Amino acid sequence: MAKYIVKHSGPLNGEVVISGAKNAVLPLMAAALLTDGDCVIKDVPALRDVSVMKEILISLGSEIESLEENVLKIKTEDILSTEAQFELVNKMRASILIMGPLLARKGRAIIPHPGGCTIGKRPIDLHLKGLSALGAEIIDCEEEGYIEAVAGPQGLIGDSIYLDFPSVGATENIMMAAVLATGTTHIENAAEEPEIVDLANFLNKMGAKIKGAGTDTIRIEGVSKLGDVRHTVIPDRIETGTFMLAAAITKGNVHIMNAVPDHVKPIIAKLRECGVIIEVGDDELIVRGDLDPQTATDIKTLPYPGFPTDIQSPFMAYLTTVEGFSTVVETVFENRFMHVSQLNKMGASIETAGNKATIRGHSKLRGCQVMATDLRAGAALVLAGLVAEGETEITEIYHVERGYEKFIEKFASLGADIVKIED
Ligand code: UD1
Repeated sequence: MAKYIVKHSGPLNGEVVISGAKNAVLPLMAAALLTDGDCVIKDVPALRDVSVMKEILISLGSEIESLEENVLKIKTEDILSTEAQFELVNKMRASILIMGPLLARKGRAIIPHPGGCTIGKRPIDLHLKGLSALGAEIIDCEEEGYIEAVAGPQGLIGDSIYLDFPSVGATENIMMAAVLATGTTHIENAAEEPEIVDLANFLNKMGAKIKGAGTDTIRIEGVSKLGDVRHTVIPDRIETGTFMLAAAITKGNVHIMNAVPDHVKPIIAKLRECGVIIEVGDDELIVRGDLDPQTATDIKTLPYPGFPTDIQSPFMAYLTTVEGFSTVVETVFENRFMHVSQLNKMGASIETAGNKATIRGHSKLRGCQVMATDLRAGAALVLAGLVAEGETEITEIYHVERGYEKFIEKFASLGADIVKIED
């Protein structure tokens, strides 16, 4: 298995350019199924998850062309299959996002039953509840291992949907289903993440009529057909946060370009509380962790605009190094402390009770062999490895490559001593 070897690296310094957001591009690619027009998407990050989504779209009938580096053209003249293959869907949870578009365009979608996941059960009940409110019949063939959704004879019909939790994926799936429905749909308690706004902008450029994305109520007036679209993916706010933390933990000075500072407000606020100096420009940030002392803080993950769950583990790695006791409360996912045992193996002092972790700071981290239990846990271990004594060997790094473009190259360009050892 491939692995990363990370050595104690000293302060990271220099400039880094943030890539297009993984969590924005995946729904945009799924939305391309809604039209027979040309969908040109720029700033598409070269990631494993993007490759999986490409394979899924191709298996359903899309033609995908790489126009140049990071630019994809997707054209789906017709959908040839409404059934997603288990082998592909199984590789990536976000593949559930094809359900809304297939149902909207073809009136039918079959997806394999989504399995469990290392960060909790991650059910899809809210996706199904929303699609069902639009008139789809949901047939859950658990024994055969798939879920089928079928629209009524009139197609999908707009309605009001209240989400019990502002799920990002459910909001996206329902939005994509509703754009071609008859009548108007309201999604109440919708997710407000920037990726939702990006998807709404993409769909509106295609000819959809969506208002209110970025607030808790989204109004979608159905249209009969969607057309061509050209769109640039928003910068990745989680990658931005990861490099902010890289500057903080190594006491470096990193200039982060192609960022949207508004999207990382909670990370800026929390790092400032710890004593990190952050200068904010229109589309850039300068993060300086070289001022002492850096001190503890408390974090609680929440849906946007609250503190992002995807930065919880990298932030926890940082908190192991500052002075004092910090707490981290995870409220979005039920089992997102897998990285704790790995950080403790490196010498951190973290105790968990339920969804709360207490971190005793100022730990002397030591390199050893650790495992990237999920994508963001992998990033957390790299950050810890940069300041640990000696050498940290990180296995299961395919998780990291699912979500960070040119990860090694970007870290190395800032002075990190990190290499990838192939199988
Ligand atoms: C997306 C992001 C992921 C991020 C998460 C929360 C993508 C591809 N992934 O995941 O990186 O960590 O948002 O910001 O965009 N839930 C239900 N029923 C449902 C759907 C969700 O109970 O039908 C629960 C989940 O189990 C979880 C919580 O809601 O506890 C949040 O999930 P959701 O917002 O849907 O996250 P994803 O869209 O899967």
